[in-house]
Amino acid sequence: MEIIIEPDYEKMSKTSARIIAAEIRRKHDSVLGLATGDTPIGTYKELVKVHEIEGLDFSKVRTFNLDEYVGLAPPHKNSYNYFMWDNLFNHVNVSLSSVYVPQGNTDDPEQFCHWYEEQIQKAGGIDLQVLGIGGDGHIGFNEPGSSFASRTRVKALEEQTVKDNARFFEKEEDVPRFAITMGIGTILEARKILLIANGEKKADVCAQFIEGPVTSQITASSLQLHSYVTVVLDEAAASKLKRTEYYNWVRDNKHLVEKRVGR
Ligand code: F6R
Repeated sequence: MEIIIEPDYEKMSKTSARIIAAEIRRKHDSVLGLATGDTPIGTYKELVKVHEIEGLDFSKVRTFNLDEYVGLAPPHKNSYNYFMWDNLFNHVNVSLSSVYVPQGNTDDPEQFCHWYEEQIQKAGGIDLQVLGIGGDGHIGFNEPGSSFASRTRVKALEEQTVKDNARFFEKEEDVPRFAITMGIGTILEARKILLIANGEKKADVCAQFIEGPVTSQITASSLQLHSYVTVVLDEAAASKLKRTEYYNWVRDNKHLVEKRVGR
């Protein structure tokens, strides 16, 4: 894993947007895996700026979102579908037929999940998967104990996740208890992964998934098994890491590292 520590949220957002923009420039019909939540809002804002100022072209880009609450129709204000249109899709030239967000109000979730996996395969697999991390270490909605082989499916949300996400709803009882989420197996098949996290409340879990053991109790630790992961943190989220000096040295001397051994 490459660990990039930035001084604050704004810089974290700029750096992660640059990584996504570089991927789109490298491959114009990139397949992006996208996350929702508070963390990527700044990244999406930066991407919109890159689109407006530098003409970053999304016309051939395809996107697959990680997850959606079960029971929420796409136009629902708390749905992840709504979030994506509000924060990114409405502001760039992505085509409506190229964006996929799991359908929370599907009549047949099981069949829908198979279909979603098939669409990812048909698109040629995900080139770059963007992730946030939950307070309990989840990626997507892969709560503690999720199998590392799991595929897109319905998951019950942990108590902590329901509490964490209650801020978006009027009352905690309104937070759906189930979500459709890509599995850990689905996520690990992406060719590249970018995880972003900010704030002191993510410091413990970031130290656990980066420097702790691989365990299904912190599902983000499964990323240690992937060969191309970039983690962009702000200083607060990185504050419990033990090897900060090493990560910073590698970041500052990347040109030497790449010349000698590649990534
Ligand atoms: C959202 C998702 C979740 C969030 C995580 C962090 O699509 O997959 O794993 O990334 O819950 O959420 P925030 O960014 O709100 O702290």
